[in-house]
Amino acid sequence: MLRVAVIPGDGIGVEVTREACRVLERVAALHGKSLRLISFDFGAERYLRDGVTLPQDALARFRSEFDAILLGAVGDPRVKDNRHALDILFGLRFGLDLYCNVRPVKLLDRRLTPLRDRTERDIQFTIFRENTEDLYVGIGATFKKGADDEVAIEESISTRKGVYRIIDAAFAYAAARGLEKVTMSDKSNALRHAGDLWTRSFEDVAQKYPDIAREHLYVDALALELVRDPSRFQVIVTANMFGDILTDLAAALQGGLGVAPSGNIHPGRLSMFEPVHGSAPPLAGRNVANPMGAILSAAMMLEHAGWAAEAAAVESAVRAAVEAGACTPDLGGALGTREVGEAVLGNLM
Ligand code: NAD
Ligand code: IPM
Ligand code: MN
Repeated sequence: MLRVAVIPGDGIGVEVTREACRVLERVAALHGKSLRLISFDFGAERYLRDGVTLPQDALARFRSEFDAILLGAVGDPRVKDNRHALDILFGLRFGLDLYCNVRPVKLLDRRLTPLRDRTERDIQFTIFRENTEDLYVGIGATFKKGADDEVAIEESISTRKGVYRIIDAAFAYAAARGLEKVTMSDKSNALRHAGDLWTRSFEDVAQKYPDIAREHLYVDALALELVRDPSRFQVIVTANMFGDILTDLAAALQGGLGVAPSGNIHPGRLSMFEPVHGSAPPLAGRNVANPMGAILSAAMMLEHAGWAAEAAAVESAVRAAVEAGACTPDLGGALGTREVGEAVLGNLM
């Protein structure tokens, strides 16, 4: 029995998660597996109604009663400071210590990439984004708010433990899949302190994996190389903020945010899966959002849970839908969210 806590969240998160859940239920039924999906209403509506963002007992409950979490997206224009979204998203990522933000970049069909003459073989790599440190920790302050000389401080932290474990996870992933190279990206030419820690940690971890080649690129150069020649990458490991930016760029290489999946993973522990995209308020409630990123995130969740055959079946069904042109407008198709979900369901084996 796989027990999944489902948080549809806000905006298109609700619509794409609905399709991902339908796919999960169908693939479980087809494969004779037992699955339980339980929904949680964390998001803007609830926050605006009763002030609750991530309920006090949520983490303990998730840890004891569930095997995985599936999230849609959080963010709503009515909540100007994004308070509820940060409480929920970071509450889960930090609270569950989900230090690996794993974002695979895989071109499902050559027609989806904006890069000329690139094929499926050229675009298949995975970004390991550190997910618990860096500029994201919320350490900082505002001083003299509203004055002409107002000051905003946002501090970035990097710890030996945090840097070492994300680099190690990237190498372990490469080793488990027989991949040849890990690329580490930082900005050690300008950010000396964090850069020095990343540089030494990379060297240390690499010693454990003598069969895997290592490469270093400054993050600005990496952004260029991802567009110029994505075929040279297999596994990329980087810090939280750089990883956030690079994974939107990388999503574009595979067809856009509508198809990009991700996992927030602590190996061996309760983990959370979500599309890379956000709640896309202008698309919300219009049945136009692409559900494929959410469906592929659900497939990552199945893979993580050890349901390899079911994960592969879901990915194949999405690929077949893309090949048949059963797509939403972001991919040049004319179908709605629900109809793409139907097409994927119809392709499941
Ligand atoms: P976004 O990802 O919601 O949208 C960026 C662009 O991609 C928009 O043009 C949008 O129309 C398009 N897009 C996104 N998902 C799509 C899909 N499934 N199908 C088709 N097109 C899609 O990012 P944003 O506009 O910067 O942010 C909107 C809100 O979402 C903000 O509140 C933001 O903080 C939040 N957000 C949340 C998450 C999350 O919950 N993990 C991630 C990113 C952004
Ligand atoms: C993502 C998102 C989040 C992040 C935002 C919504 C805080 O952009 O998951 O990539 O920066 O991590
Ligand atoms: Mn992002």
